[in-house]
Amino acid sequence: MATALTGPRTGPGESWPTTPSLLLLLFLLPPTQVEATAHRHPASEEVAFSRDVGRTSPSPACGQRHVQGKILGGVDALEGKWPWQASVHFVGFHICGGSIIDEYWILSAAHCFDRNRNTEAFDMYVGLVDLNVAGNHTQWFEVNRVIIHPTYELYHPVGGDIALVQVKTRIVFSDSVLPICIAPPDLTLWNLSCWATGWGSISRKGDTSNKLQEVQLPLVPFHLCRLLYGQTDILPDMLCAGNFKDMKSACEGDSGGPLVCEFDRTWVQIGVVSWGQGCAYPMYPTVFARVSFFSKWIHHHIENTPLPLQPLPALSSTLGAIISVLMTSLAAPSML
Ligand code: ARG
Repeated sequence: MATALTGPRTGPGESWPTTPSLLLLLFLLPPTQVEATAHRHPASEEVAFSRDVGRTSPSPACGQRHVQGKILGGVDALEGKWPWQASVHFVGFHICGGSIIDEYWILSAAHCFDRNRNTEAFDMYVGLVDLNVAGNHTQWFEVNRVIIHPTYELYHPVGGDIALVQVKTRIVFSDSVLPICIAPPDLTLWNLSCWATGWGSISRKGDTSNKLQEVQLPLVPFHLCRLLYGQTDILPDMLCAGNFKDMKSACEGDSGGPLVCEFDRTWVQIGVVSWGQGCAYPMYPTVFARVSFFSKWIHHHIENTPLPLQPLPALSSTLGAIISVLMTSLAAPSML
């Protein structure tokens, strides 16, 4: 989660081919004029998405955090403020973020699982604020399976950048560990205050923070994002957000983490951190996998994937005892 500490950027944007003054004007537009798709969602539909999501997140309801309020001028996140945040560890190190969407499922980015398809190399952590300190609410999970979207890398180097991670045992919900709601397929994004969270780099030099960072990122209109990155780089399964004024963005290590917005007191995930050109450059917003584009796929897999086989040592030893008793009693008559 990077914040540019320097003044106006130098670097990649200097070679930008379009009129800088026009782009600057666009950057200065207040977030209220920043639209993302066609129409505003009527309140009734907003209720509908909670109901839909409720089907896959039985209890408690998704997107209901218990810690309220914002840290003024700060970037460290309070414990319990982002209770759906997960950390993806690879061979013992944090490499990516994720979000809890169900008792067995964490949503993340496909490219986080790219380097190794061996699920045993990954671990998931939830209820974590400081990467080095397991708190009272921290839970650790092994990975049962990773489902990567079939279009990942098919039409674009990082298109379809979404992955579903099924953990081996159930995530126990508490005030600090809760699921986020998944944006419904037709969700319209308009005039939203959205937040990205993660343990990624906090400077362009690559400094990191062990404390979970949060950043408020206004949505960047799809067409403006295409103008900035180029038509072919931004696909309909992506969305862009960036804070041009304060030059804040997601950065390396934030990938897979959520971009969430509050709709009528319910937090909904609209994006998964995917990629970007550098960090905190005003010309280049962060690009996210557009969750609404994938929500049917997400629900389909959550509803149709069998739960992991539970290791039940107590039961199996009881079973073993029953079987050996049975065998003995079956064998008994022949011995007679
Ligand atoms: N892809 C990166 C990761 O794996 C981070 C994505 C955001 N990057 C950016 N430059 N804004 O963590």
